[in-house]
Amino acid sequence: MTFKVLISDPLSEDGIKPLREADNIQVDIDTGLSPDELTEKIGEYEALLVRSQTKVTRDIISQASNLKIIGRAGVGVDNIDLSAATEYGVIVVNAPDGNTNSAAEHTVAMLMSLARKIPQAFLALKNGKWDRKTHVGVELKGKTLGVVGMGRIGAEVAARAKGQRMNIIAYDPFLTKERADKLGVDFGTVEDVIVASDFITVHTPLIKETKHLINKDAFAKMKDGVRLINCARGGIIDEEALYDAIKSGKVAGAALDVFEEEPATDHRLLELPEVIATPHLGASTVEAQENVAIDVSHDVVRYLTEGVAKNPVNLPSVPKEIMNKIEPYFYLSEKLGTFLTYLTSGVIEEINISYSGELTELEVAPLTRNTIKGLLKRHLGDHINDVNASYLAEKRGIQVNENKSSSTKAFTNLLTVEVKTKDVTRSISGTLLNGLGPRIVQVDAYTVDVVPAGNLVVIKHNDRPGVIGKVGSMFAEKNINIAAMQVGRSDVGGEAIMILTIDKYLEDAEIEALNEFEEIEKLTAMEL
Ligand code: NAD
Ligand code: MLT
Repeated sequence: MTFKVLISDPLSEDGIKPLREADNIQVDIDTGLSPDELTEKIGEYEALLVRSQTKVTRDIISQASNLKIIGRAGVGVDNIDLSAATEYGVIVVNAPDGNTNSAAEHTVAMLMSLARKIPQAFLALKNGKWDRKTHVGVELKGKTLGVVGMGRIGAEVAARAKGQRMNIIAYDPFLTKERADKLGVDFGTVEDVIVASDFITVHTPLIKETKHLINKDAFAKMKDGVRLINCARGGIIDEEALYDAIKSGKVAGAALDVFEEEPATDHRLLELPEVIATPHLGASTVEAQENVAIDVSHDVVRYLTEGVAKNPVNLPSVPKEIMNKIEPYFYLSEKLGTFLTYLTSGVIEEINISYSGELTELEVAPLTRNTIKGLLKRHLGDHINDVNASYLAEKRGIQVNENKSSSTKAFTNLLTVEVKTKDVTRSISGTLLNGLGPRIVQVDAYTVDVVPAGNLVVIKHNDRPGVIGKVGSMFAEKNINIAAMQVGRSDVGGEAIMILTIDKYLEDAEIEALNEFEEIEKLTAMEL
């Protein structure tokens, strides 16, 4: 199969080599498409690669019937509707590391330009003015730089600013004292940072919690003559409040690489002499553009051909060592889920997944998603996948519980799935037998030993002499070959189940006819 990849924003030609060099990938570059044009085209493609210009909206995603992956050559994914992507089962990957250095260097360039008014002085000189009085700056040495957001870029900026002999105070919800000490920075609350700093630089994502994080109230608490830098995302600093704070003299200057609305060619902040700005250039270096395009191209190739991605945004990433250990259980977990859906009629309200034995030492969340996929796939079809399985279960009001248990029932590993509807609870357990592969070892109260593959028939019957022979003859009469048979019972003479592996899928009419036999209480056919 050939996968079609659309690149809708300009990306480094060297960076997309991994896509060009892959045998089964066709790359189309079409930049500057209008939203309508993209909506019309997207149905042909398995992958879409963007920077920040293309807005990947719900409308576009809903028309992308073949789309499997959206690659963002950069960090911020605020131009992609992540919940729509998750809902439609489209994985979103980004390139989180490739432009860290460039963005940090750009921030430092803005910090120094802001302190020394270099852009203003240059502009004046270009206009024929040798004006030394207006462009007196301030030193960085001994000043306090407040860093809001100590992730990849924030930490790099702090390290560089220390080289300018600045004192650093930082806030990040994940910044511990140990890490702050290691980085050689003070740490406090966001308010501590705002109050103490001569310069404040923001490096958070733009999310609900950070939208207008620096607002009118925050400006009121700052030192007089504070200077601000935003090379992260427009909207973290409230632009209206910043304008007023500059006008009032509270803020001595601001350096902005990003704006709430981009492109921002006609912005009133740009009219202020205290403001210097660049048109979202933080990651615009040859190196960063090549790095992010390489990273995201590799992930697209990997995902389309092997189904794994290194930097997923809407799916937790699983380290390779862990993936190698849990991969053998993937098949088993999905088949246990599928087996149970055949046994369960009625609306599933709760799914309980229990891991025991050596499985308790592993990261099992991907197996849980895979089990849910197996459970819901029969009704939702190929629409459900690892990306949206948990989301779709939640949307349907199904409660999913995952637990690790110490009881193994003598198996080295055991995975048990239980589903509850309003009226019934059904359960199934499976194990991976060393050298023999996956086995179903328990169905409800019955102990069995069944390979979870092919066409299975589950027959509930009474444990009476002759039943097994009769069932065998019934299938023979209908010319259906039985490849394997397993019988499990709770008590002698009580209820029992028989699980047959047969060579064909039973048609509805055949199931109906077999259900007529008095020996059979209930026959369920399934295809795993
Ligand atoms: P990152 O994920 O490594 O770091 C972001 C940090 O923000 C995290 O440590 C997180 O804990 C912290 N954070 C979240 N909410 C916070 C809050 N309320 N207060 C304080 N901290 C909070 O991301 P990064 O790679 O360092 O990128 C940072 C930002 O820079 C992103 O918005 C990214 O899109 C942007 N960026 C811009 C450019 C550009 O061209 N200007 C280039 C690259 C990245
Ligand atoms: C990012 O989030 O990576 C930056 O905004 C850079 C870009 O525009 O791609």
